[in-house]
Amino acid sequence: MPSVPEARPALCLDHACVRAWLRETDPTVLETLWAEADQTRSLHMGDEVHLRGLIEASSHCIRHCLYCGLRAPSEGLERYRMDGAEILTCAQEAARLGYGSVVIQAGEDPGLTRAFIAEAVRAIKRHTPLAVTLSLGERSDEDLLAWRDAGADRYLLRFETSDPLLYRRIHPNLPGLVSDRLAQLARMRSMGYEIGTGVMVGIPGQTWDTLAKDLLRFRDLDMDMIGIGPFLPSPRTPLGGPQAATWTAPPQEQVPNDELTTLKALALARLLCPDANIPSTTALATLDRAQGRELALMRGANVVMPNVTPPHYRARYEIYPGKACVNETAVACQECLEGRIQRLGRKVGKGPGGRVRTECKDLNVCDFDH
Ligand code: 5AD
Ligand code: FES
Repeated sequence: MPSVPEARPALCLDHACVRAWLRETDPTVLETLWAEADQTRSLHMGDEVHLRGLIEASSHCIRHCLYCGLRAPSEGLERYRMDGAEILTCAQEAARLGYGSVVIQAGEDPGLTRAFIAEAVRAIKRHTPLAVTLSLGERSDEDLLAWRDAGADRYLLRFETSDPLLYRRIHPNLPGLVSDRLAQLARMRSMGYEIGTGVMVGIPGQTWDTLAKDLLRFRDLDMDMIGIGPFLPSPRTPLGGPQAATWTAPPQEQVPNDELTTLKALALARLLCPDANIPSTTALATLDRAQGRELALMRGANVVMPNVTPPHYRARYEIYPGKACVNETAVACQECLEGRIQRLGRKVGKGPGGRVRTECKDLNVCDFDH
């Protein structure tokens, strides 16, 4: 692997600087942040945008996370769980559309048993060349090892916040089990998974300090993938209902759940983790349907996760209301996204698009052949 001499990073990225960048509102000053993030993305990741087909395999969930519309107490949702053949069909559709990987995502659903997911992964590996990412919540080591054994390559588990008190408040434990996503991330890394995490921007109770710590935590954990999207209130949840105001931090400390702040967090994540895979999230596209996807790709992101879930299930996977692309077919999503990528002068990535570590620390001297 080519390596280049270490040198002073272009922008100060200590806690105080990251916090100051997050609070910056002057568009002229922000131009520097956008340019640095885009240049870092280009040097470390190249111009390819990798597409991951998203399979929303089950909307059942036993957890009570205070922000999520799929939480167990949510009423009026028509819950579903795909069978193995349906999951495989989605994956084959993703392969046919030229995607290099799929993400099997679901609520925390014990109905997705160890054996069932292991067989789903094996079937995808038998029938397609796809990399397989799982995003199935907090699961036992036995489950995670069995799935890794079956061929799963990656696992996504957002830690949501690095503030332990806020974490506790928004993630009620299951009886007899303490929720500890950071510990699970560490265990999955030692099992050989590529690991991804992330946070929402603007969750009630999230302060500027906390968000700055979240971003620095991504770097400390040497994350392979980082997902950052705005918090979108769901009226089915305590954080989206009328009581939400009682959760917020003092006004000057509370992070807003807006597009600009999300883009600043994403750009900073790119600078802190130059060779991580960072998606342009559906939550951001939901906030800004016209340009959300593009702005993220122009300010640090290099991945998009088009939905390959059949439309009749998609609408029922309601983490938050008004999700972008909810009524589109997989083919329509592919055409729309590829058009957007090409209009930005970027290319659709080929192959699984796993993390490639680059060692360059200084953009001015980096001559890594991307
Ligand atoms: N708004 C935005 N994102 C949400 N997620 C869950 N609920 C919401 C919401 N209300 C995100 C969480 C989770 C991911 C699958 O979706 O970060 O990890
Ligand atoms: Fe999916 Fe446009 S991004 S339909």
